[in-house]
Parts: sequence; structure tokens; C-alpha cells
Amino acid sequence: MIQNLNEELFSFIKKSPTGFHAVHELANYLTEAGFERLAEGNTWNLAEGGKYFVTRNQSAIIAFKVSRKDYSGFHIAASHSDSPTLKIKESSEMNIENQYVKLNVEKYGGMLCAPWFDRPLSVAGRIIVKDGNRLTTKLINVDRDLLMIPNLAIHMNREVNDGYKYNIQKDMLPLYRMSNSGKAFKEMIAEEAGVSVDQIKGMDLFLYNRMEGTVWGCDGEFISAPRLDDLQCAFTSTMALLNSESDRCIPVVAVFDNEEVGSGTKQGAGSTFLYDILRRINRSLGRTEEEYLTSLASSFMVSADNGHAVHPNYADKTDPTNRTYLNGGLVIKHSANQKYTTDAVSAAVMRCLCERAGVPYQEFLNRSDILGGSTLGNISNAQVSLNTVDVGLPQLAMHSPYETAGSKDMAYLEKAFEEFFKSSIRAEGDGTLVLE
Ligand code: CO
Repeated sequence: MIQNLNEELFSFIKKSPTGFHAVHELANYLTEAGFERLAEGNTWNLAEGGKYFVTRNQSAIIAFKVSRKDYSGFHIAASHSDSPTLKIKESSEMNIENQYVKLNVEKYGGMLCAPWFDRPLSVAGRIIVKDGNRLTTKLINVDRDLLMIPNLAIHMNREVNDGYKYNIQKDMLPLYRMSNSGKAFKEMIAEEAGVSVDQIKGMDLFLYNRMEGTVWGCDGEFISAPRLDDLQCAFTSTMALLNSESDRCIPVVAVFDNEEVGSGTKQGAGSTFLYDILRRINRSLGRTEEEYLTSLASSFMVSADNGHAVHPNYADKTDPTNRTYLNGGLVIKHSANQKYTTDAVSAAVMRCLCERAGVPYQEFLNRSDILGGSTLGNISNAQVSLNTVDVGLPQLAMHSPYETAGSKDMAYLEKAFEEFFKSSIRAEGDGTLVLE
């Protein structure tokens, strides 16, 4: 089972070089399981027992099951589809001395730069194709080794191992072809898409690491793959939605885009996407505004975004009394200044859910002298305010194009999500919550 879940994750990641592809693949899983696709631009007629999903910008997705009309609340698992990468600029080809052609790129999100060098890369994303008066989106994945960012030889920079400050514009432009061979970049993309260059009216294309996922370690304890943050949580929450039976709450899986650049887009956690969908679910089931607000009090969000495990070479970088390890179970994240939304109430709910599911959990806090990262839970709460806990899977090398995690942890998180989706968390009005 654990082996299968990791292998399935690798297959999902391989087919998901960008957030657009990840959402497309999640939609495929849902469709195969009988979920019906809704469009934001159509009127909805939801039915008891129905299973639905809706996408926004092809890079964010919300899936839910209507267990019953008089549901207790929404049980939401939230994650993100995007990862730090390099984006191809609009006019991208740079000719070097009439010999080489490299591509001009810019940074998307906060990445570790060094591991992008000296490994096969390719290009994926979406293009907008004009056909008559229609603008349609085509997903692009150039599924072959296409690009490389070669390092400068040690002989030409003897001090490089003493530390190096990367300049994206200077150091990180990938080599694409020789000047006298191959095709212009846009021409190559048009050929991949089966359209003419003139038809391409827009491009969102990104670099991705070609290396596939692997299970490794003396006894297969570890996994490594591109984009574990946060495709691991997006995948796990979707699997749990497919595998769980809910008869009280409305289970919801929300995968937002643009977490790595602040979530402030129409498809990000800071948008009205979740707010709009929850209200539409309520209205379509013939429920009143009063009933919607009542159900929000008994709703709960698990914001799932990967966290940091103790690093074997930098053990001192982790908080001295809250230590998280690979294969130690899911991580509950805390921050006094509420960069993570977890508080005593939501942590207690999450711990009880884990205990009921029989899965281990660990507590993560940053050292008080390290700033740490943030995530989407608190941003989403500005739009839909409800009890929220921030969790994640423990991992190493976060924001490297090849990240490392434990081989057992995803199965723990999946079980915890299944427990969450079949529970109800009823607010009694005086601060008391009743878990059923
Ligand atoms: Co993340």
C-alpha cells in the first residue's frame, strides 16, 4: 500500500511538470471516480449524493462531495499546485557569438538555485491558441531532455566552493541549441502544439527538472522527486477524498495556485475562489444565508503544505525542543505571530483526528532566531474565516528542484485526511467543539 502510494505519486508528479498539468491530472482522477465537472460560468443544480469539481485558471481546483443537504459544515483540505521554477520570458532567444542560443528566463518563487545546474531540463506550461475568434488553452509538455544550465568550471572560478551569490539574469539562462541548428523557440513550441506560430497569442511556460521520483535508502526509507512541496499534499488530499465516505460534513479539497508568490491572484488562496464555491454549494442546495453562516462555525480547514524535517547535516537549524523527522508522521505547524494559523483549538482537533486514525504526528516550530516560511492557511482565512490548522509532510531540501521526504509519511497523512472527511466538528457556541 505504502509502496503503491509513492509510486502513484511519482506517476502523478511526472505528468504534472506545472500547476496547470497538476490540476489537469487531479481532474482526471476525479472524473474517473465519477465526479462531475462544473463551470463557474454555468448555473449549478447540485444534488444530494453528488460529487463535483470546478477549476479556475486551469491551475486551481476545488472538489467536493454533497453528502447531505443538512450538512454539519465544510471539512476543507487545502494545498497548492505551484512550485518555484524559472519562467520563460516573452521574447526569449539570446544568440551568443553566432554559436549558441540560450533562453532568457526569470525567477518564479524562492528557489534553491544550485541544484538547477547540470541536469536535463525541459519546458512545460500552457499556450493560448487563436482559432478564428476563439482563444483556447493548450497544455504543453516538451517531454524530452531539451535544456541544460551548465556550471562554470572550477578552473574558471576557484572560489566558488567558498559560497556563491547567484544572479538569475547572468548565471541561470539555459542553453537551448546551436545557432545554426534546430528551430526558433516559439517555432518549436508551435510544432509541439500542432499549431502555427501566428496562432500563439499567449504563453505561460516554465522550466522543469526531468528527473523522476525514486524510493531510496538502505531499506527504502526515503523518497525524492521534483515538486514534493506541495504536490504531495495536493495528491494525498485528493486520494483521501476518493477513498473516504462522508455522511455528515461536506468534504472539500482545494488546491490553489501561486502560493510561492504570495497567493494574491484570482486563482490563489487570497482570492474569492473558495468563498464563491462554498456559497454556491449552500445556495444550490436550497439553504439560507443564516444556515451557511451557522455551518461555517462547525467547519474546519486543514491547510496542508510541506514542512521541514531535522536535517542530518544541520540539526542545529531546527527548534531545540520541537523536532520533526522524516517518517515520524505528519507535521503540525505553529507560529506565535500566526504565519501558521494553528492555535490551541485547531491543534487539539488535529491531534484528536490523528489519534482516531491511528497515525503519528509531530510538532513544528521555527527556531526563535529563524524567520521561516509562511503558507496559505492564514491568507485563505481572510476570505473564509474558520478554524484552521496548518500541517504538512516533513521533508528536506524544500524548494530544490529535487526534494526529499520519508516513504511512510504520505500514507499517514492520507489516513488522517480520511478521518477528517468522515467526521463532524460541531460548535456548541461557547467555544466547545464536539468531534463525531
Ligand atoms: Co509549499
